[in-house]
Amino acid sequence: MKCFAIILVLSTIAFHEYLCLGQIPSMNDEHCVWYKVCVRNKTKVKNCAYDGPPKILDSEGVNLLKKWCPNLIPKNKTEDVLTCCDIEQIKDLVNGVATAASILNRCPSCFANFLQPICEFTCSPHQSSFIKVVEKKINTLTNRTFVNEIDLYITEKFINGSYDSCKNVNFPSSGQLAFDLMCGAWGATKCTPKRLFHYWGDESEDFVPFQINYIMANSTDPINGFKPLNPRIVPCNESIDGITSPCSCIDCTSTCPKAPPSMLLQQKFTSFWDTDKFTVFMFLIYLICCVLFVIWSTYCLSSNIATKTG
Ligand SMILES: *[C@@H]1O[C@H](CO)[C@@H](O)[C@H](O)[C@H]1NC(C)=O
Ligand SMILES: *[C@@H]1O[C@H](CO)[C@@H](O)[C@H](O)[C@H]1NC(C)=O
Ligand SMILES: *[C@@H]1O[C@H](CO)[C@@H](O)[C@H](O)[C@H]1NC(C)=O
Ligand SMILES: *[C@@H]1O[C@H](CO)[C@@H](O)[C@H](O)[C@H]1NC(C)=O
Ligand SMILES: *[C@@H]1O[C@H](CO)[C@@H](O)[C@H](O)[C@H]1NC(C)=O
Ligand SMILES: *[C@@H]1O[C@H](CO)[C@@H](O)[C@H](O)[C@H]1NC(C)=O
Repeated sequence: MKCFAIILVLSTIAFHEYLCLGQIPSMNDEHCVWYKVCVRNKTKVKNCAYDGPPKILDSEGVNLLKKWCPNLIPKNKTEDVLTCCDIEQIKDLVNGVATAASILNRCPSCFANFLQPICEFTCSPHQSSFIKVVEKKINTLTNRTFVNEIDLYITEKFINGSYDSCKNVNFPSSGQLAFDLMCGAWGATKCTPKRLFHYWGDESEDFVPFQINYIMANSTDPINGFKPLNPRIVPCNESIDGITSPCSCIDCTSTCPKAPPSMLLQQKFTSFWDTDKFTVFMFLIYLICCVLFVIWSTYCLSSNIATKTG
């Protein structure tokens, strides 16, 4: 009996140990996956691998973050701002989204949704809970290790909401939609949430600094030890901060005024039988005239031809 109890205790410990070691350390042990820039050339910027704790951001960085990534500023104003990015990475982020900003900023809610995951993966102090580093490489000039490819766990709800908030945004100077420029070869008509994020993570595009595989999850339940990111979506008919106005009707169909459905139904039923009897009558007259005209012209034409040939 005693022996059995000991075996039970031992196997419980072993099982516990197995679970804890077998799992990729993440949720309970959040840390960074990178800090600082390690490779920079004309088109690509890659971050140095780093798996320590987040670091305190300086005040210049905090000011940039307030403007571009306000959700990463802690609610408690007296707390230090801890991030996995330094000021240089934030400046790269701002430069990197400049083109997108110029296209999307006519619809601030859409642009905020676009920025949110970029802010999160670049700077979040909880990076390791939703980012899996797939590939690290060594910069042979400096011997420093950099991150070359990541899997980013994110909910489908966010992907879809982000897509929906931007899909009707116009790009007036060419008479196109924003997604004609931002969904790669698919264009706006064939764009889907998945295709959009696939394109945004494809390193072969110049604007993507390193390969980002967006892994879409059904829920926020952990997958492979990673907790999918689920940022709040701002629908395009809502203000991002209560001050900025929602996106206009031409960029966001849900902002457009809608006729109350009951009135529409009424119109449909009453108009045909009551108010618009006259219209129906006139339409019938018109139809009869058309038929008469066709008959008359066919007759004239054939008799004309007959007189000419005859
Ligand atoms: C920039 O770096 C990437 C990755 O290290 C490399 O594939 C690419 O060819 C480089 N581009 C230029 C212009 O040097
Ligand atoms: C805010 O953070 C400071 C410093 O960490 C702490 O002393 C204080 O209790 C926090 N306040 C609230 C409301 O959490
Ligand atoms: C990089 O590492 C290799 C071997 O570890 C060494 O021979 C070389 O001098 C190092 N280069 C630099 C720039 O530190
Ligand atoms: C997201 O949109 C796709 C279609 O693009 C749909 O198949 C899927 O069910 C949607 N998922 C959620 C969670 O809304
Ligand atoms: C999403 O959830 C449904 C049921 O909740 C499940 O059947 C389906 O396999 C899930 N899909 C993925 C990709 O996890
Ligand atoms: C935005 O649109 C959605 C769906 O069309 C609607 O449910 C929601 O109430 C709207 N929000 C505002 C603030 O009008």
